[in-house]
Amino acid sequence: MVSLLSRASSYGPFEVIRPAASGGTASVFIARDRSTERLVALKVLEETGDPKRFDREARILATIVHPNVVRYVAHGIAQSGRPWLAMEWLEGEDLDARLDRAPLSIEQTLHVARGIAEVLAYAHSRRLVHRDLKPGNVFLVDRDPSQLRVLDFGIATDFTESGITKTGTIIGTAQYMAPEQALDVRTVDARTDVFALGAILYHCLTGQPPYRGASLRELLAYVVQAKARPIREVAPSVPAELAALVTRMMARNPDHRPADGGALIHELLEARRLVGRDDERKEERDEHERGSSLAGDRSLEMHA
Ligand SMILES: Nc1ncnc2c1ncn2[C@@H]1O[C@H](COP(=O)(O)OP(=O)(O)O)[C@@H](O)[C@H]1O
Ligand SMILES: [Mg+2]
Repeated sequence: MVSLLSRASSYGPFEVIRPAASGGTASVFIARDRSTERLVALKVLEETGDPKRFDREARILATIVHPNVVRYVAHGIAQSGRPWLAMEWLEGEDLDARLDRAPLSIEQTLHVARGIAEVLAYAHSRRLVHRDLKPGNVFLVDRDPSQLRVLDFGIATDFTESGITKTGTIIGTAQYMAPEQALDVRTVDARTDVFALGAILYHCLTGQPPYRGASLRELLAYVVQAKARPIREVAPSVPAELAALVTRMMARNPDHRPADGGALIHELLEARRLVGRDDERKEERDEHERGSSLAGDRSLEMHA
């Protein structure tokens, strides 16, 4: 019995401590390397998952070395036949959990934008496309938006293959999905990731995903039309330059979006500069108002 139990919680050199999360096709555990005591996030494929794809994609993650992508540790197949993937253990929360609590500030949103755009620039220059960017695949280390890690990289789910198996998964993914991906997964390219990041930023800024539908069919109808409520209609305090960039990232026609992660970084820098100028203008206004109210106070004093 004991040996059965230990075998069930043993994956290569790792010993499961406890479950951490479960996603679409895999469960994530916190586990410990028996020899070094190091903690890892151990992702174990569900019985329904595709082992070949899990293996191929674990190999892709192994080739990605970027400060904003979760670090690969090892992968293998357990005695039970279950494939597993070990990654650095991250302390904090994913962006999905964060957005459930509250929207992000403009400053925090810009950190998220920059952090993910850097990953996309790196990946796109290597002809890799994430294909499944969404808040659940973005982790905020120590809950800090300026320290994010992109997850599920290369574990990108193929809409046609696995997404269909679980309606919940497809709905979660579809909310951030580009129209061309919903129509035909083969048309996916760098601009599909740009769209998904735009949809994530939309959610960060407005507190709600760009589309909501009562059913999957209704949701997909919105996705295909790529018609979301204008950002500043939902959140009027979002600076116009930033709202315009996010709207363009979510253009229905991929040609109208920034072409890839690299192009996006340039546009974000420009938007940031303009937003900064906006902040300065606002500060000047505030200062001015403070100044006049102080003057008011003084005049009151004088009258007193
Ligand atoms: N390295 C990690 N450290 C801590 N938590 C993690 C880590 N990797 C994943 N998670 C948690 O597990 C969830 C599912 O992981 P993910 O790799 O996205 O699997 P799936 O392919 O099932 O979506 C994530 O949303 C996150 O909350
Ligand atoms: Mg995921």
